[in-house]
Amino acid sequence: MDPRHILNVADARRRAARALPRVVFDFIDGAADDELTQSENRAAFSDVAFRPRVGVDVSTIVVSTEVLGTPVAMPLLLAPCGLGNLIHPDGAIGAARAASARGTIYVLSTAAGSTPTEVAMASPGPTWFQLYSFGGRAAGDRLVDEAQANGFGALVVTLDTPVVGNRDRDARHGVGTPGRMDLRHQFPLGLQLLARPRWSVRLGAEGIRTTRTQFGPGVAPGDSGQATASNGQPVMASPFTWDDVAWLRTKWSGPLVVKGVLVGEDAKRAVDVGCDGIIVSNHGGRQLDGTPATLRALPEVVDAVSGYAEVLLDGGVRRGQDIAKALALGAKAVLIGRPYLYGLAAAGQGGVERILDVFRVDFIRTLALLGCPRAADLGPEWVQPLREPFALAAEETVVRPGSRNAEPR
Ligand code: FNR
Repeated sequence: MDPRHILNVADARRRAARALPRVVFDFIDGAADDELTQSENRAAFSDVAFRPRVGVDVSTIVVSTEVLGTPVAMPLLLAPCGLGNLIHPDGAIGAARAASARGTIYVLSTAAGSTPTEVAMASPGPTWFQLYSFGGRAAGDRLVDEAQANGFGALVVTLDTPVVGNRDRDARHGVGTPGRMDLRHQFPLGLQLLARPRWSVRLGAEGIRTTRTQFGPGVAPGDSGQATASNGQPVMASPFTWDDVAWLRTKWSGPLVVKGVLVGEDAKRAVDVGCDGIIVSNHGGRQLDGTPATLRALPEVVDAVSGYAEVLLDGGVRRGQDIAKALALGAKAVLIGRPYLYGLAAAGQGGVERILDVFRVDFIRTLALLGCPRAADLGPEWVQPLREPFALAAEETVVRPGSRNAEPR
């Protein structure tokens, strides 16, 4: 399809639903349990209103910035997501190339199905690498060295996945180990594949062969912090703790980021072990359902690190306005997960580029309408709660304009 037909993220989502077998679409689209946290992520953005200034020269809008030393054309990154190669033949490499073409960072997931070397060979970057604990420190050691040798600009350690979140949509499709997506066990897979012949021809074989593994035969990565042995038994990879983050700090010379922080106490801990960045994230609502929206958690985290780390946010970012709201509340940049996966499903690399273009145009327009020509100037004075009680000033406290000519009209 022509990616120009995608006008917004909702369009891309509809196209993705038409392109993918239900089991794959639901894997992307779904979240944990009652999906409350996923809905909350969106609702929180709706609860913030802008305080625009008028009469400002907005002929030049500046949205380029630096995130942990990596220059980006806008403060929007592609979040680490597993199984891109099951969504479209362009896969993780297509997403990395799209980010590169639009001047932003692709965060490669451990579970993406492409290795750091493959991505570095195929795309000029910039790229960061996200590490899960599959395979323990030995596998981590090897992957971190590979990412470092291939010029990845930062290491992101995801901490919110000690066990798999309970994703009912996946379970209903018979996906035993969420994130592994072994399509051999899907039922009624045949009907789903018949309904999506284009996907089946291009990707069915790859999917049925199961996603590729970076850990050698016998252990396959999942989105979930869990691995599955070849005999189908779940194997709990030893989940990362703060001790492991401290260990990674000794190994990784570039910026170190933890992902999945929601409270100030953990943010302080991250700074104490030497992290440079924090991603306020609830994994898009895919892990512990019932956690607050990331936008609501953001101010506490920003306050806790008080400038000692850069704070990023993901979860529910669907419009350029959402970028502005997150920046106003203290984020240095935001990341998107599902929006670019929908774009990838709909139109491959071109679909991801289109999603990035839509966000960019939307963000620039928002800044113009806000009267804030530099994204870096966004702060709390640009937003307020959507519904505040009316402030009715008492007669004696009303401040009159100072000028003699200022008569009420
Ligand atoms: C993810 N996410 C994720 N996070 C991570 O650290 N490593 C991973 O491998 C994955 N895999 C993954 C797969 C899929 C299909 C989705 C939708 C998400 C979480 C991701 O990085 C990010 O936190 C959320 O997607 C952000 O929320 P939105 O933008 O999807 O609402």
